[in-house]
Amino acid sequence: MSLQIDENGRLRHLLDLATLPVTAMDALLRRAQAFADGAQVSDALSGRAVCTLFFEPSTRTRLSFQLAAQRLGAQILNFDASTSSATKGETDLDTFRNLQAMGVRGFVVRHKADGAVAALAQATAPGVAIINAGDGRSHHPSQGLLDMLTLRQAKGEDFSKLKVVIVGDVKHSRVARSDLHALRALGCGEIRVCGPATLLPDDDTLHGCTVTGDFDAALNGVDVAMMLRLQRERMVEGLVASLDDYHRDYGLTAVRLRRAAADAIVMHPGPMNRGIEITDEVADGPQSWVLRQVANGVAVRMAVLEAVLS
Ligand code: CP
Repeated sequence: MSLQIDENGRLRHLLDLATLPVTAMDALLRRAQAFADGAQVSDALSGRAVCTLFFEPSTRTRLSFQLAAQRLGAQILNFDASTSSATKGETDLDTFRNLQAMGVRGFVVRHKADGAVAALAQATAPGVAIINAGDGRSHHPSQGLLDMLTLRQAKGEDFSKLKVVIVGDVKHSRVARSDLHALRALGCGEIRVCGPATLLPDDDTLHGCTVTGDFDAALNGVDVAMMLRLQRERMVEGLVASLDDYHRDYGLTAVRLRRAAADAIVMHPGPMNRGIEITDEVADGPQSWVLRQVANGVAVRMAVLEAVLS
């Protein structure tokens, strides 16, 4: 039994997509699509306090969770590590326990350490739910879900003939890992992964994928190009020769995009390094679904909060 599913088979926490049953993933995606279609918003979380507990910066994830919680009637607390007693040495666990003691029932947690969010889930009182908003390089499940919702909207629910390429800094990307788990679970026909060898993981992350360093070849005929942010803040020196070289070899330009299927879509989790992994003309062009991903983030996060807290 995974920590995120309770003894009755219900979603207790959302920690990762690797151990999330495909039925639970599908149910969240269907509920999120209903919210995206304008389903009547209930007061499912009325009177409940939800805290966004972020130990790393965020724009999209934090604010869309806040908006999602507000739309469901919750009270929102926004914890900012840089202005909190964490700066005086208070531990993450003590911080969490204090907020739990105040009556917070939902925690949306981002942390730089792999496994830190699941560790908090081990310390929850009954009725308290943890949602992983990104831990280290490991998991970003709500991003993976919103990416799958976007793919369903663009390409339909049958992924069996879909060709997807994930491009760039896979080594440091929790988004790529969550997308890979979800794409496999939903039966994606072909997953290609492309990047310089220094930015590809050397564990079993890429099992079942076609792996190449040749971006032009990797783009041929794909239905979806998922571009990743070059995570310079997580890198040690020397993984990329220079940003110019990276852009030349792995930057998605309009010319390069012509190698993909004519109706291919381009995705990026944000924030984008414009001019490095993606050009303005692609990011803002007709094949870009980047802002649709962001819009879907609110719907997915409503579905997740409702599932674990109502
Ligand atoms: N995609 C994503 O996680 O963006 P933020 O870091 O802005 O939340």
